[in-house]
Amino acid sequence: MLTREHIQELLQVVTDPVTGKSLVDLQLIRDIMVKEDRVSLSVVCLDPDDQNRMKLEQEVRDRLTEAGVQNIHIRLRDATDYERSLHRSGSDEADSSTQQEDKPKGHAAGLQGLPLLSEESGVHFIAIASGKGGVGKSTVTVNLAAALARKGKRVGLIDADIYGFSVPDMMGIEEGPQVEEGTIIPVERFGVKVMSMGFFIRENNPVIWRGPMLGKMLRQFFSDVGWGELDYMLLDLPPGTGDVALDVHQMLPGSKEIIVTTPHATAAFVAARAGSMALQTEHEVLGVVENMAYYECSSCGKRDYIFGRGGGARLAETLHTELLAQLPLGAPDNHVSEPDFSPSVYKAESATGVLFDELADRVILKCE
Ligand SMILES: Nc1ncnc2c1ncn2[C@@H]1O[C@H](COP(=O)(O)OP(=O)(O)OP(=O)(O)O)[C@@H](O)[C@H]1O
Ligand SMILES: [Mg+2]
Repeated sequence: MLTREHIQELLQVVTDPVTGKSLVDLQLIRDIMVKEDRVSLSVVCLDPDDQNRMKLEQEVRDRLTEAGVQNIHIRLRDATDYERSLHRSGSDEADSSTQQEDKPKGHAAGLQGLPLLSEESGVHFIAIASGKGGVGKSTVTVNLAAALARKGKRVGLIDADIYGFSVPDMMGIEEGPQVEEGTIIPVERFGVKVMSMGFFIRENNPVIWRGPMLGKMLRQFFSDVGWGELDYMLLDLPPGTGDVALDVHQMLPGSKEIIVTTPHATAAFVAARAGSMALQTEHEVLGVVENMAYYECSSCGKRDYIFGRGGGARLAETLHTELLAQLPLGAPDNHVSEPDFSPSVYKAESATGVLFDELADRVILKCE
């Protein structure tokens, strides 16, 4: 059976018309997936000319057909400004940062070859997505991460919401990461290693990353951060199906998804978009988490379904996946005076904390 590596070897000879260099070497062949006799991949085009693009597609198709692949699915996509800039910086090093001097050139350009992302690393990547904002993605991400860590898993968390980062505040992290010999050491809280743009934009923190390109920074979360060995890497995605979410999808073809929604029918409908994006990019959807599912009266225990009912189950059905958890409305009973005050992390022994433990069990069962 063909592997990604085989495909890369086969396509090594195909060159980009603009530079004359191998598409594979330029990391312009992305999202390679082999499923039984079907190969799908994306070709990132630096050249906007339609004729050239079609030629490129045909060449890729020919190489694969010659090798006996019958079912070929090729997506053509324009290079983003970011990708073009990387391409340029490959020659003039205009935006390379000082920490990278002793590293191979252009290593941040593509993520292939990074140990963290190789299949052998055994890390389970899980992106937490939703169709719209404010449904509780970040809350679910930080609490699932903490619950997995409580179960002895080695957990990393990337706050991929690079514009609206919230994870440091939610977990009560006040310090920034240390840099040791050019490697950024993630901040650890509740046994979870955390990386967020928020660390670098806060007041008085050294600006470790130069250059305005957020996408590049996200990549550097993978390439320049010393994560150590991990079992799980959770990614808190920005809401919706925008650029950053797409970028993450493309960077991590092997990642799985959890879709968060509220019980309201329209919210679930919107979340379905995020789910169908995951399915289109052929990411496995682990399941749906319905947040703010009900309010439980603290004195009589009666449940009120104030935001409606059934949205999560319906969404799970639409995406042919399962409803992994239903989480009640209610903030954690933390107090500012507590030494490990963290506004959004539920205590392990609280009712919601227990639900997150159960969610972690389900996730482990599905992944391992
Ligand atoms: N089950 C819950 N009960 C009470 N409040 C909650 C619950 N889940 C989330 N919240 C609160 O709702 C707000 C939005 O949650 P959160 O930031 O986790 O959502 P999000 O989907 O990540 O939002 P964004 O799209 O802005 O990133 C936060 O103030 C959070 O504390
Ligand atoms: Mg968020």
